[in-house]
Amino acid sequence: MSTLSPVSTALSERKKVTTHTLRQKKERGEVISMLTAYDYPTALALDQAGIDAILVGDSLAMVVLGYQNTLPVTMEEMLHHCRAAARGARAALLIGDMPFMSYQASVEEAIRNAGRFLKEGGMEAVKLEGGRERAAAVQAIVAAGIPVMGHLGLTPQSVNQLGGFRPQGRTAVAAKRLLEDAFLLEEAGCFSLVLESVPARLAELVSRRLSIPTIGIGAGMGCDGQVLVTHDLLGLFDRFTPKFVKKYADLHGEMRRAFGEFIADVTAHRFPGDEHTVEMPDEEWEALLRKDGDHDHKGRASKAK
Ligand code: KIV
Repeated sequence: MSTLSPVSTALSERKKVTTHTLRQKKERGEVISMLTAYDYPTALALDQAGIDAILVGDSLAMVVLGYQNTLPVTMEEMLHHCRAAARGARAALLIGDMPFMSYQASVEEAIRNAGRFLKEGGMEAVKLEGGRERAAAVQAIVAAGIPVMGHLGLTPQSVNQLGGFRPQGRTAVAAKRLLEDAFLLEEAGCFSLVLESVPARLAELVSRRLSIPTIGIGAGMGCDGQVLVTHDLLGLFDRFTPKFVKKYADLHGEMRRAFGEFIADVTAHRFPGDEHTVEMPDEEWEALLRKDGDHDHKGRASKAK
């Protein structure tokens, strides 16, 4: 008998989400939901909750691995976490984030590394950051049969060039350039585009002009979909919370409370209780004591016998 509620049964039977599903959702005016996951339990929960797409983001570097920014994370680390997340997801579209310097040096390296996300990471698409300077790489990766999601606006891998994690596209010149980049990425074959930390009215304009769906993070309501870093949404990242994040839980606080209770229970001998303890039948215990009496502690037959 199923222990799932009718709602979760319906979700567990939902159809596989593909890049075409996202395009159809845009055409029908339905909003797309995306969140990040870096492990099996989170991907499982997201999938069962009905998320459209799961991004194994390079935000992994900051929110899981504790780096100051996303630059240090490697291909091997990304692939390790992609495999874990892929084991948890069934219906959601799986997108792997290409780490810094895995696609910038040459188009050939970009294709090869994008391919590793599908062959070794269990992903179904990749995401990479940048505009016109990435169009050739996008085109080549797509030509190799790998769907690509673009990422414009605040592109965290360029934090040193941008002079910090700051909103982008706020002047007419910058906004025009972003709009042009969006068109170029669409032309190059991107199936979707993340718009991060850009003015809401610019994001809305880009979303209206493009045929491919835009997914916003700090880019307002006018995008075709919304994404957040799951650790921000759950209150699991202690260092800072960007202005555009809505916190749906305080799991960091909840973890500290639970850990504190465990420590207090252990210290006061309240844990483990009988219900957490493995029992042994009395006759087996008595047999052990009899045998033990026959031997010294090194297992040799006792001299007394
Ligand atoms: O790495 C990431 O999590 C991302 C999202 C913020 C879009 O790129």
